Amino acid sequence: MSNSARTAAVDYAAVEQEVRRELAPITDSQQAMTRAVEILKTRVPDYTWVGIYQLFGNELVLGPFRGKPSPHTHIPLGRGICGAAAAEKATIIVDDVNNDPRYLACSVETRSEIVVPIMRGCDVLGEIDIDSDRAAAFTAEDQRMLEVVAGLLSEKI
Ligand code: SME
Repeated sequence: MSNSARTAAVDYAAVEQEVRRELAPITDSQQAMTRAVEILKTRVPDYTWVGIYQLFGNELVLGPFRGKPSPHTHIPLGRGICGAAAAEKATIIVDDVNNDPRYLACSVETRSEIVVPIMRGCDVLGEIDIDSDRAAAFTAEDQRMLEVVAGLLSEKI
C-alpha cells in the first residue's frame, strides 16, 4: 500500500463549519472536546488517531480520543512532540515521525503527526494531537483548519 497518496479530497471549510455549528450549543467541556474529535476523525480520512490533551500544571492529560488506545495518557511539558508544542505554544508538524527524536510512539503504523495548541491568551489550555499512517499527511490547510478548531475549543474548556 502506498503511503504517499492522499486518500480523498477534504473540504476543509465544510469541516470547520461543521465543528463550529456542532460546538455552538455545547457548554460542557468534555462534550465539546468529544464532538470535535468525532467530527475530525470522521471527516478526514488521513486522520488515523485524533485526541485532545488538557494541560494540568506541567502535565498534559489525555481526554477524548478516537483511534487505538495510546500508552501516553500523561505527558510532561517538554516531552514528546506533544510536550514540545505545549512548551513552544506553537503548532508542530512532523512529516516523518521516525526521523524526529522527540517522537513518543503510539502506534507502529504512525508516519506523521500534527499538534495544535489550544490557547487562551498566552496560556496553553491543551492541544489537538493527530497522527496519520501516511507520511507528510499534514499541510498548511490542515494547520489552518485545526487552529480555527482549537480557537473554538478554547471557548469551551
Ligand atoms: N506522539 C506523541 C505522543 C502521543 S500519541 O501520538 C497519541 C508525542 O510524540 O508527543
